[in-house]
Amino acid sequence: MTPFSESASDAVKGKVQGKDSICRVALIGFGTVGRSVARILSNSGNKLLRLTHICNRNVARKKQDWVPGDVIWTEDIDSVLQSDADIIIELIGGISPAEQIVRRALESGKSVVTANKQLIARCGPELLQVASRHGSHLEFGASVAGGVPVLPALRTGLSGDKLHGIAGILNGTCNYILSRIESARVPFSEALEEAQAKGYAEADASEDLDGGDARAKLAILALAGLHARVAPETVRARTIRPLDAVDFDYAAELGCTIRQISRADLKGNTLLADVGPCLVRSDSPFGRVQRNLNLVLTSGQYGGDMAFLGAGAGGDPTAVAVVSDVLFLAEGLAGHKRGTSSVTTPTISADFETAWYLRFFVRDQPGIVARLAQILAAHRLNIDSLLQKPGFEKTSLPFVITLEPCRDSQLHPALEEMSGLEFALRPCLCLPILR
Ligand SMILES: NC(=O)c1ccc[n+]([C@@H]2O[C@H](COP(=O)([O-])OP(=O)(O)OC[C@H]3O[C@@H](n4cnc5c(N)ncnc54)[C@H](OP(=O)(O)O)[C@@H]3O)[C@@H](O)[C@H]2O)c1
Repeated sequence: MTPFSESASDAVKGKVQGKDSICRVALIGFGTVGRSVARILSNSGNKLLRLTHICNRNVARKKQDWVPGDVIWTEDIDSVLQSDADIIIELIGGISPAEQIVRRALESGKSVVTANKQLIARCGPELLQVASRHGSHLEFGASVAGGVPVLPALRTGLSGDKLHGIAGILNGTCNYILSRIESARVPFSEALEEAQAKGYAEADASEDLDGGDARAKLAILALAGLHARVAPETVRARTIRPLDAVDFDYAAELGCTIRQISRADLKGNTLLADVGPCLVRSDSPFGRVQRNLNLVLTSGQYGGDMAFLGAGAGGDPTAVAVVSDVLFLAEGLAGHKRGTSSVTTPTISADFETAWYLRFFVRDQPGIVARLAQILAAHRLNIDSLLQKPGFEKTSLPFVITLEPCRDSQLHPALEEMSGLEFALRPCLCLPILR
């Protein structure tokens, strides 16, 4: 994942083995994660690392007495970039000025550790090239799944395999909301309010709910594990907003529950990629993930399937991943070049072949099922089952049709034809069923 040239590696090793055994570390961004990183570095007693700077805007209000007295507190980013720090930790988030900070640090030969998923998803491949050109290093192990060491695993433990698939529950906010609706059958709006009250969701949770956050993480996983350059906006993202408690009742009848799944399958030069709610078996690894946990599954040609489960966010778990990256650099473990050379730029498609769950809300009248069946048959789509729970008002009746596996592109024209039907009260909710 990270390109390490021999000379850069030697430079880091030189610090450990030779003339100067201390690796100087400067931290930019003293917020939730930055504070935890500073605490771990301050308490570690590690002789290899020395925290030299903490940089934040309006820094006076940030000062803490538990930070060693020789650490320089500053709001002057330039002075940090011009200092003798060997490693810069970027934890301010966002694209600007984070991108400029990371770029300038790499260009001046400093190595960078960041947890910034938006930055890496958008600019990662280019910044890795900047690092490669300047003999510096860029590590971003905390940018996906917070404290779950999936990126380091892709980089080292699984690099001997040829991975072809990655799928994950990558957004804790969505998973909290969906597992709450599942366990308490509360309406979507109530589950969202709860997530906001507990601090799991922002006041504007669009990035989470509509899949923007998860597809940025999927792009990073695809870069690290599938060596595929993916612009996040080219990945289809489906929202979880239309989900209703009744969908969990119907899913349960099918032995399933519903999770936001991010998946990428490499088939030749095409990367099938999609983010959004899917039906998954209740007894599957995805079905069992509760609350705001993250799970990543990888599929490899030789090693088969692997699973990584844990806390996807939070100051301390994320800080552990950041400090691990810092130690990785400081210990000079990166002894050889790792390839941007093998990164490909595949065609991105969402045309997965899966079984489907179609949920309708209709005003009841004779002939509805016959009309839908006629449209499906005209598009050569096979019905697998039809589910209708008793007890609903005939003026707003939910029922479900499941389809045998077919491609997304085959289903889409049928959905468009259904969208104009006069008895439909809401657009049909269409979810892949993952087996
Ligand atoms: N929190 C998590 O659980 C988590 C998990 C995984 C990854 N991450 C990633 O980790 C990074 C940091 O997240 P966080 O939760 O620690 O964010 P945060 O609590 O908002 O902290 C960001 C810090 O950076 C400072 N800052 C922002 N812009 C700045 C600028 N232009 N110049 C100087 N200082 C600036 C902020 O100062 P103010 O106090 O003035 O705002 C704040 O102290 C983000 O990229 C995030 O996506 C976070």
